[in-house]
Amino acid sequence: MTTLLLHLSDVDEAGWARRYAEALPGITVVRQGESFDPAAVDYVFVWKPKANAFDGLTNLKAVLSLGAGVDALLKHPALPDLPIVRFVDADLTQRMTDYVVAQVTYHQRLGTRFKRDQAARNWKQLYPPAASETTVGVMGLGELGTDAVEKLRALGFTVFGWSRSPKTIAGIETFAGDRLDQFLGRTDILVCLLPLTPETTGILNYRLFQKLRRKLDGGPAIVNAARGGHQIETDIVKALGDGTLGAASLDVFQTEPLPADSPLWALDNAYLTPHIAAISNIDAGVRYFSQIIRDHQAGRPLPNVVDRIRGY
Ligand code: NDP
Ligand code: OXD
Repeated sequence: MTTLLLHLSDVDEAGWARRYAEALPGITVVRQGESFDPAAVDYVFVWKPKANAFDGLTNLKAVLSLGAGVDALLKHPALPDLPIVRFVDADLTQRMTDYVVAQVTYHQRLGTRFKRDQAARNWKQLYPPAASETTVGVMGLGELGTDAVEKLRALGFTVFGWSRSPKTIAGIETFAGDRLDQFLGRTDILVCLLPLTPETTGILNYRLFQKLRRKLDGGPAIVNAARGGHQIETDIVKALGDGTLGAASLDVFQTEPLPADSPLWALDNAYLTPHIAAISNIDAGVRYFSQIIRDHQAGRPLPNVVDRIRGY
């Protein structure tokens, strides 16, 4: 008898367990804290697993990650040396692209400028640039970044992408590895969709902001929907205050929840959301991981396995 253990924090674990039980007849679905034999567990489905999450799971076959990002999971001190399957799904990708397009379009249409004029009851016509006159640079051309660049391109933006290895994407000029500065120098609106690794930690810092192109009225702007560890928040506050950045849309933070005393809350050119850019939807998640479990039981390989050496 196959057993799936759920070990989730900060989400509706009972709801996920119910849905898995419906989707996986013949498979035993158990939750942390329930009575079960840990040695009988084949798969563990995790989000923010506690210290004891993997205790006694001696016959585990794979770790299934509710999150697309696995940076925190990889730091778990008791993480078993087994394949980790992360969440990759069209629904998640669509939600992230929705967020990115909304933020980029707001900055291209000079949202901060008109918001300030409204607050000052100031009627001043200023014409926003066309999308084609605005450049968007997307850091990370994986599952999320590739969809974002393609949709932004379809909207008419001039789009650049930066990744670790070289990429070919129709209609997009791409940069890889050490060509970061060339990419930044062409970019009005910078979007971060990188995984958090030792190489990308703190990448969104003041020195980097100074390298962005300065052609967009009210720009340049940054959009970070990846991880708070990518950004140095003191640098963002300084850059938003001295004009090095015109605006910043941030969905993720160095400490979450964002502390009440963070100066970011009070900045009218900071657009903050509480890590909701793209949630792992329960319908899509149960469909995706149930299929993976069924396929794996039938002898097929696990998809979207994290490369532990690369860290994503
Ligand atoms: P992928 O692993 O599919 O893509 C990662 C991309 O980043 C790849 O193109 C990779 O390059 C590039 N990359 C990695 N390291 C570097 C580096 N050092 N220099 C340049 N490029 C690099 O990830 P996803 O697109 O699925 O997800 C990205 C991140 O988004 C997740 O890790 C997660 O943290 C975050 N996320 C946030 C959510 C939210 O709600 N805010 C929701 C979901 C995800 P290469 O192609 O060469 O390997
Ligand atoms: C994820 C997230 O990584 O929600 O999936 O941040």
